[in-house]
Amino acid sequence: MILPILAYGDPVLKKEAEELNKAFPGLKGLIADMYETMYAAQGVGLAAPQVGKSIRMFIVDGSPFADDADDGEEPDLKAVGIENFKKVFINPIIEEEEGEEWGFHEGCLSIPKIREEVFRKEKVHISYYDENFQLHDEVFDGYAARIIQHEYDHVDGILFTDHLSPLKRRLLTKRLQNISKGEVKVDYKMKFPKIKKSR
Ligand code: NI
Repeated sequence: MILPILAYGDPVLKKEAEELNKAFPGLKGLIADMYETMYAAQGVGLAAPQVGKSIRMFIVDGSPFADDADDGEEPDLKAVGIENFKKVFINPIIEEEEGEEWGFHEGCLSIPKIREEVFRKEKVHISYYDENFQLHDEVFDGYAARIIQHEYDHVDGILFTDHLSPLKRRLLTKRLQNISKGEVKVDYKMKFPKIKKSR
């Protein structure tokens, strides 16, 4: 089932989400719904708060980055292995981030039509549980790290716009307000906080 994605301005997106355990009701179904929702919106990551569940879980599928990188030019080292980067992260903990910061124009399904450059470190060391509650401890880099960092922020109530300079944010104020009011064209299902209905 495709779920409506909460738009910028919804208070759930600003909340620090809660840890969950194996007994979380309907977990399997929620994960399946989140994948369906993410694919329908052509996203590469989706965090539970974005579908109104304030729990520490996000899903990723970076394979669209592999297609982008495969355009006949020089190999894109940041895309190595990204075609198989499909995972569920539950109760993740970023243990460490290292390397040089690099800029990338990020977007977010909750903030349609806006892309801005965000600087983040190259590598991320993260521990997390998968959908079977098996514990993992891994290091990711390139686009995989970038997706993780963006989605991890969501479970802490942080949006990519929070990383922008005050000036950049000010320039976006009007467009962000319009998104909250549903005054933006999107071709996937969203729920806008200022109009209180989904479409
Ligand atoms: Ni996002």
